[in-house]
Amino acid sequence: MHLNLKDKNALVTGAARGFGRAIALKLAANGAAVVVNYRRSKIDALGVVEEIEQLGGRAIALRGDVGDDASLDRLFDSIKEELGTLDIVVSNAAFGIPGTVMESSKRYWDVTMDASARSLVNLAQRAVPLMPKGWGRIISITSEGGTRVLDGYGLMGAAKSALEALTRSLAVELAPRGILVNGIMAGAADTKSLRSIPGAEKMLQRAIERTPAGRAVEPEDIADVAAFLCSEDARMICGQFIVVDGGLSILI
Ligand SMILES: NC(=O)c1ccc[n+]([C@@H]2O[C@H](COP(=O)([O-])OP(=O)(O)OC[C@H]3O[C@@H](n4cnc5c(N)ncnc54)[C@H](OP(=O)(O)O)[C@@H]3O)[C@@H](O)[C@H]2O)c1
Repeated sequence: MHLNLKDKNALVTGAARGFGRAIALKLAANGAAVVVNYRRSKIDALGVVEEIEQLGGRAIALRGDVGDDASLDRLFDSIKEELGTLDIVVSNAAFGIPGTVMESSKRYWDVTMDASARSLVNLAQRAVPLMPKGWGRIISITSEGGTRVLDGYGLMGAAKSALEALTRSLAVELAPRGILVNGIMAGAADTKSLRSIPGAEKMLQRAIERTPAGRAVEPEDIADVAAFLCSEDARMICGQFIVVDGGLSILI
């Protein structure tokens, strides 16, 4: 794989733990200077920065709530100040209020959509002006819930569907500028956000028992594919979702 990110700056949202942490570590290991974004988990984010630095990489922890425009403005002001330019954005952070659609409220809808779907638009609008001419990468992370019904995941499923549509539209809008926009459809992995869904334990157990590849997804599985999407080998992949679930979703 042609992956030399030595002159690239990357922003990974929600990078204090889970998939985001693994993606930040992977991009940094391949030479990128990484913004480890967090919302609440400052200590964990600083831990990720320390881990990257101990491996000889470059990273900085910056706060920013992806569901809040003013907070994102401050995050991008800091990015401009600290790094000047941005080449890669991994829109990984998501936040949703679990529960049934019937019991949801407008506030739940707004919070979930803002943090998990509109965040991609907000990130792209702020990041693209910082991207150099002719090269850029934007990656979103979706789940099976974007196309299928998962218990307690109704609003989040709607947000993931919207995120997928936005990924495709942005891919078409930005491809002429050399910016590739793609996504990863991740299978169930044992992270804090999965544990917040009511049926999480059952979902994980099902994934472990039924996945043809014999295990649930690990954050590193997602990080490796994110790195591939940043490589030159992915240059003609545009507006696609790579399914990383060990084959679970192709079963009846
Ligand atoms: N785990 C799975 O099974 C699975 C499957 C498919 C897709 N995904 C997707 O993968 C992505 C990462 O999830 P994960 O499983 O790695 O979850 P995780 O370990 O719980 O991490 C989620 C991260 O998102 C951050 N975050 C949440 N709301 C934010 C906001 N408004 N602004 C900035 N950061 C915010 C959290 O940071 P703070 O703690 O600082 O708030 C946290 O670091 C999500 O998009 C999720 O939907 C997960």
